[in-house]
Amino acid sequence: MRVDPAVTLTSQLKSASLAHYDLGSGYAQIMVPDYILDAYSDAGWLDTFNGQVGHSDLGHDASQRLDEAVRSFLGMRGDSSDWKVFSTYSGSIALDRALTGMINLLKSRGRKVVQVVTTSPCIDIMGLLLAEHSHVRAHYVRSNRGQALGELDAQALVDRLAWLRQAFPDDGRLVLLASPENPTGFLWDSDALHFVARACAEHDAPLLVDHSFLLAGVHQDIPARVWDAADDSNLWVGLWDTGKTIGLAGDKLGFIITSNDEVSRYVEEALAVTQFDISVRQKMTFSRILEVARDREYVDVLRRLCRENLQTLELALMGTGIEVRSPLAGSLVVLTLPEGYRDEHARLRLLDADVGVVAGSVFFHDTWIMRNMLRLALARDVDYFGGAVEIMAQVLGPALKRGTPL
Ligand SMILES: Cc1ncc(COP(=O)(O)O)c(C=O)c1O
Repeated sequence: MRVDPAVTLTSQLKSASLAHYDLGSGYAQIMVPDYILDAYSDAGWLDTFNGQVGHSDLGHDASQRLDEAVRSFLGMRGDSSDWKVFSTYSGSIALDRALTGMINLLKSRGRKVVQVVTTSPCIDIMGLLLAEHSHVRAHYVRSNRGQALGELDAQALVDRLAWLRQAFPDDGRLVLLASPENPTGFLWDSDALHFVARACAEHDAPLLVDHSFLLAGVHQDIPARVWDAADDSNLWVGLWDTGKTIGLAGDKLGFIITSNDEVSRYVEEALAVTQFDISVRQKMTFSRILEVARDREYVDVLRRLCRENLQTLELALMGTGIEVRSPLAGSLVVLTLPEGYRDEHARLRLLDADVGVVAGSVFFHDTWIMRNMLRLALARDVDYFGGAVEIMAQVLGPALKRGTPL
């Protein structure tokens, strides 16, 4: 698959980042609380650095501490000793290596081709990563149950899985979901995730769920997690990264959580292709950050901020003809412009006015493409977000009232 760099999400995020008001990236770009900054800059552990020949104990202790910090921050059950947590450099690398690991697992079982079922709209890296594998086919189930944009459709997904088994009985199958979803802010609730997990077990399909926005955003309760929804008959992988929750100017880690020894082995092998390990410094730093973020209930701070920004947006755009589609979860929000108005025109108009957003069409991956959608990030400081929204209302509102094409 050839990709036009002008239309990738990353290229749009790059232009958005040059605007004075950057509502592009899904990372939390907020004033970082002092307790996190202190944890980030605390290098006390360096005192022991030279005392340990080969640093093996230091490395081991740091791995253990990070493992515990991640499990605790994500609310993983204590009795989950079969599950492993692997660390890597970002959410995309976690996704890439988890996908490669599961594709290799299926190949080891004699499957030469792997059929992957995922959703549209969804973040473009799903398709981009899959396209890098020959013998892997991506299938997109539309999230528009009842014609509602973004409404996830577990039944359609399960039907597609069953159909693929019938059509290609010799091929492997894999399901790849995100919860909360990017860009729509929908989530797979516990019943839907159970339902999909059961179907995956029935059709021998590993289930990968990207939980990048699990703790980041407007939702009160933590969305259902794959490790709670699946059971021993499932091969599952959960993914999470720190960047959407704790934005540190791009400093982040990604994590891959695995269900059993077989899954762990293939993920470990896939990771070993690209990394020996992450550094002790990163392990120590992120352990401390996650510990203090948990103790000081940082997630609540982020939640309140995202909610306040959502309200500001709804108020500012009221009566403009632009629909604010309130997310159930996560820190992203989708706007729909009236029919006939184009996302890309609106994005460029806003960019001219120093506000960076993302055009929604980059999230659609089959023949159904909505071209009147914009995606905005909510995880911004209140004054900054308010300034951006004021400009948006000035730029988009009057044009819509006049019926001027955007
Ligand atoms: C759902 C989802 N998964 C993975 C990623 C990639 O994460 P990273 O930017 O850490 O590579 C993103 C990025 O926005 C995302 O939204």
